[in-house]
Amino acid sequence: MENLMDKIISLAKRRGFIFPGSEIYGGMANSWDYGPLGVELKNNIKNEWWKMFVHQRADVVGVDTALVMNPKVWEASGHLKEFSDPLIECKKCHSRFRADEMKGDKCQECGGKEFTTPKQFNLMFKTFIGPAEDAANTAYFRPETAQGQFVDFKNILETSRKKLPFGIAQMGKAFRNEITPGNYIFRTREFEQMEIEYFIPEPKKDKDWEKYFEMWLDEMKRWLKHLGISDKHLHYHDIPDGERAHYSKRTVDVEYDYPFGQKELYGLAYRTAFDLKNHADKSGQDLRYTDTETNEKYLPHVIEPTWGVDRSMLVAILEAYHEEKAPTSEKGEEDVRVVLKFPKWMAPVKVAILPLSKKEELSNFAKDIYGDLIKDFICEYDETQSIGKRYRRQDEIGTPYCVTVDFESLEDKAVTVRDRDTMKQDRIKISELKNYLSDKLK
Ligand code: GAP
Repeated sequence: MENLMDKIISLAKRRGFIFPGSEIYGGMANSWDYGPLGVELKNNIKNEWWKMFVHQRADVVGVDTALVMNPKVWEASGHLKEFSDPLIECKKCHSRFRADEMKGDKCQECGGKEFTTPKQFNLMFKTFIGPAEDAANTAYFRPETAQGQFVDFKNILETSRKKLPFGIAQMGKAFRNEITPGNYIFRTREFEQMEIEYFIPEPKKDKDWEKYFEMWLDEMKRWLKHLGISDKHLHYHDIPDGERAHYSKRTVDVEYDYPFGQKELYGLAYRTAFDLKNHADKSGQDLRYTDTETNEKYLPHVIEPTWGVDRSMLVAILEAYHEEKAPTSEKGEEDVRVVLKFPKWMAPVKVAILPLSKKEELSNFAKDIYGDLIKDFICEYDETQSIGKRYRRQDEIGTPYCVTVDFESLEDKAVTVRDRDTMKQDRIKISELKNYLSDKLK
């Protein structure tokens, strides 16, 4: 029986959400492209995140920084030295694995039992700036967006005139030369992050930073609810000493029950003043904050909530995927309705306009409705195949409303609106259609 991941990968390809990368050349392992519906879904998630955490908060501003930064950034941040995974190689088939993720003591590819001793493999992607490929011109693609916020901290502080506590948000690509990418878009070598570096006053005692940590944990929970993720699939894992990233004094991983196991979805870390201190030392710049009331100067500490965009997409699709017994098929056979029940704000297409016939008279009438609705909603117009098949297609891509235009519409100037989840149909006057849909999609 096809498992859930296979069904989702197949639906996502068939309907234009996610394609294998470079497919016409035989693909490239673990690289994926977002198609027309995938990019809409992704943009909806990113825009909603930006709205919730930047536009709707007085204490957060946004930034968009370079992907390739001065290599000194990565020396200061500790990534050149610390950002590595233990790599081992099977002596028989030369397959490579992460030593910390080995299942059992045998090679998963050939059953071999002998491995090389683990060596630390740095995950940053190297490149060269300019034509000379030598050490002096080596640079790295950023492995996290976060360093952009730290490096621009002084400029942002001076131009935005924010007072502590305040956050700097960024979303964009990050690159990691993962040893074992896989599980579809769960772990890839290029992916997108949405990160907030939330700068807080230097704590005098533990409670001072813990309250901000708790505040962001609550904010992450609020986001998860908005994304439509059921609580029963979520776990909060406090990472023990010795297992946290090199910069973190406390980390809580938000984990999700994927079909391939319970694994990380998002993270929340207390980065202390680690990054600002190292950048101040390395750059020789004064990155301290001046408290305008006490005139005290200090390096702010940082709470960092971080969200993966691609993992958000994956869990959003997994949660939305439903198979329901269809009440009747066109041929009277038992049938299954596959429907992506995305929250309405997330659906890539909001309204489908479906004339019951291709006859010019009806088609033109329906196209006028489409032309008007498209000014306010993302719409699709479809006049091919039977109405049943067109409903199924819209269900499979998660379109909340289908507007059916029939011959009576020409007379009574009304259309039928079908609700994706309840499949209930309402007859609505065309003059009231926009208001009706706006209300429903709110
Ligand atoms: N700035 C902190 C940081 O980068 P991280 O836990 O390494 O922390 C943050 O990454 C988030 O980025 C993860 O919670 C996950 O959602 C996403 N992420 C990390 N590596 C990924 C990969 N190889 N593929 C897809 N998403 C990834």
